[in-house]
Amino acid sequence: MKAKEPLFDFLSPSINYQILTGDSFSVLQKFDDKKFDLIITSPPYNIGKSYETKTSIERYLETQEEIINELVRTLSDKGNLCWQVGNFVDKGEIFPLDFYYYQIFKKHGLKLRNRIIWHFGHGLHASNRFSGRYETLLWFSKTDDYIFNLDNVRVPSKYPGKLHFKGPNKGLPSGNPLGKNPSDIWGIIQQDWESGMWDIPNVKSNHPEKTEHPCQFPIELVERCVLALTNEDSWVLDPFSGVGSTVLGSIKNKRNAIGIEKEIEYCKIAQQRIKDFKDGKLKFRPINKPIHKPAVNDKIAKIPEEWLKLDFINGNGKSTELNEKHP
Ligand SMILES: C[S@@+](CC[C@H](N)C(=O)[O-])C[C@H]1O[C@@H](n2cnc3c(N)ncnc32)[C@H](O)[C@@H]1O
Repeated sequence: MKAKEPLFDFLSPSINYQILTGDSFSVLQKFDDKKFDLIITSPPYNIGKSYETKTSIERYLETQEEIINELVRTLSDKGNLCWQVGNFVDKGEIFPLDFYYYQIFKKHGLKLRNRIIWHFGHGLHASNRFSGRYETLLWFSKTDDYIFNLDNVRVPSKYPGKLHFKGPNKGLPSGNPLGKNPSDIWGIIQQDWESGMWDIPNVKSNHPEKTEHPCQFPIELVERCVLALTNEDSWVLDPFSGVGSTVLGSIKNKRNAIGIEKEIEYCKIAQQRIKDFKDGKLKFRPINKPIHKPAVNDKIAKIPEEWLKLDFINGNGKSTELNEKHP
């Protein structure tokens, strides 16, 4: 049976993508300087997963820094880098990896724009500390002139009917008709992805995107970064691409993409997922924006009269003038 998704047409013929098998450091040598507008990845955490050999945190970071040198070289001047990590754990002590990576990226001149908390509703239950329920995504830009398309990722306002209560705009809607800024705490996919990933350990997950990979990230997480931090036809890179989630989140949104992965089995799964995507058969959770719904008759829940007159409220376009009035 054909999955209901994707709700988009087809893969644009002008979009290029590649899954390259090999060690990131070696493969990166062949790319030109400043090729990529976005580098997004979840690197190995050095915690002894099936695809890594656990070593000291110092040795691990040294190896990662060699790869990071190449990543900074291949990032465009308007480019962004998103680094999604959790904790390295040694004898029960946790070492938040973003603390260490922040220093490496700063040394290379990158500028932190957000430290995003990716919050999970569920997870493993710890007994010697509080249970971990988030990881972080460090978003850096290479320069001060970086791509940021906020309007592409706005989420519906909780209270679109809220009005200015004083000043020259008193009585007028105070929000932005295109939606609000999604903030730096991301709870996307928290209900079904997390219950699929964590609630049933050692059992084949029932999440539509789940493959054999032990720590895939959801396509939706990639899509938000791709939509906000690149333009159509940009090139996106994932230097630790696993089963190809970044490549999928990119080509789905008309961006060119390259994934590098050392494990041939994961590359094969990535290729199959891309084929399924092209055939319209890939199962994935549609990009979704959980909304708190106030009661339907609450004034605060209603779309303001002024916005109803605007044609783009129905998705027909965007108004620069309104954006200026409602930042
Ligand atoms: C946390 S996983 C990334 C999973 C990916 N985000 C996904 O959704 O499938 C890290 C991946 O990096 C790969 N890897 C580790 N070291 C590597 C290296 N030096 N070069 C290429 N891939 C590497 C591992 O095999 C693993 O699949």
